[in-house]
Amino acid sequence: MLVTESLGAGPEGAARAAALLQAGRLVAFGTETVYGLGADATDPVAVRAVFEAKGRPVHNPLIAHVADADAAFALVVRTPAARALAASFWPGPLTMVLPKRPDCIVCAEATAGLPTLAIRVPSGPIAQALLRTVARPVAAPSANPSGRISPTTAAHVLDGLAGRIDAVLDCGPCPVGLESTVIDLSGERPRLLRAGGIAAEAIASVLAAAGLPELDHAPRASAAGPASPGMLASHYAPRLPLRLEADAVAGDEALLAFGTALPGAALTWNLSAGGDTGEAASRLFAGLRMLDEKGIQLGLRGIAAMRVPGAGLGPAIRDRLARAAAPRPGQPTGAGPAGG
Ligand code: TXA
Ligand code: MG
Repeated sequence: MLVTESLGAGPEGAARAAALLQAGRLVAFGTETVYGLGADATDPVAVRAVFEAKGRPVHNPLIAHVADADAAFALVVRTPAARALAASFWPGPLTMVLPKRPDCIVCAEATAGLPTLAIRVPSGPIAQALLRTVARPVAAPSANPSGRISPTTAAHVLDGLAGRIDAVLDCGPCPVGLESTVIDLSGERPRLLRAGGIAAEAIASVLAAAGLPELDHAPRASAAGPASPGMLASHYAPRLPLRLEADAVAGDEALLAFGTALPGAALTWNLSAGGDTGEAASRLFAGLRMLDEKGIQLGLRGIAAMRVPGAGLGPAIRDRLARAAAPRPGQPTGAGPAGG
């Protein structure tokens, strides 16, 4: 078992984090979305260690993180849609899936052997500085054990991965709070693979303004299987069962509220009392963790989540909640919805 170093975000910690990454070690760091578990994306040994530390299936490819669009388009093909979206949303919470260039230095382990690469330019200032210092692409899935709730603080990372990774660089709480939006630009029409930190409407309007093919809001999974290899049903799972669209809550349940909280819960976390989906996104994972931990301590039967509207970051929040509520492999289907 490793001793995981906790690094402060000052110049010393950042330099140490960069040196560890360059040496092929695993370092978690904060981005504007969630904490990522970073490894040198050109190093197959380091990348395999990421899959192992997370317990992640090796067929689920990783996102490569770089400091700017020029570094991105040294790795992937710059299509007209990629150019337009990069100009509008990078740095920021948008990941684009594009064909790899023939001279792409990202290793095949990171892309699970696919001819495409998912790439993103994060905007967090510490992540930016780190990527500039490392000066090579950094593969970084969310820094949680596979299937569990994504981390938005350094403490969350240590909760799940202490002893399994070399270091965590404390970048403070992540302001967006859920993962990047993933768009597949490798086909004829841009396609939404994962709702995330940038609303799909914002992407659609940039594409329309540039006269490009319309965004396909295809469901994430079809009869042909998951659209993206990582789009497994159960994910972001708390230990307590979660039920959705609650319009009443029992005294032995925890409540994940949105807007005016329902009365009567044993424990409540309000995502946004004012009904703002951006604020709700930033408080989602921390809230799920809190309700899960305290709820278990109090012996509660489950978590009830109130309805979140479909505008703004609402679809991304709904997506995470649906997966958190999905039946889990190897577990009997939980308590189910409350009787009334
Ligand atoms: O905000 C984020 O995106 C965070 C931070 C750390 O950057 N990262 C993140 O990574 O959420 P991860 O590995 O948890 O999710 C990446 C998603 C997965 O669903 C994966 O299947 C998909 O992107 N993906 C990666 N490469 C792909 C590819 N070549 N084609 C299709 N989907 C891909
Ligand atoms: Mg993840």
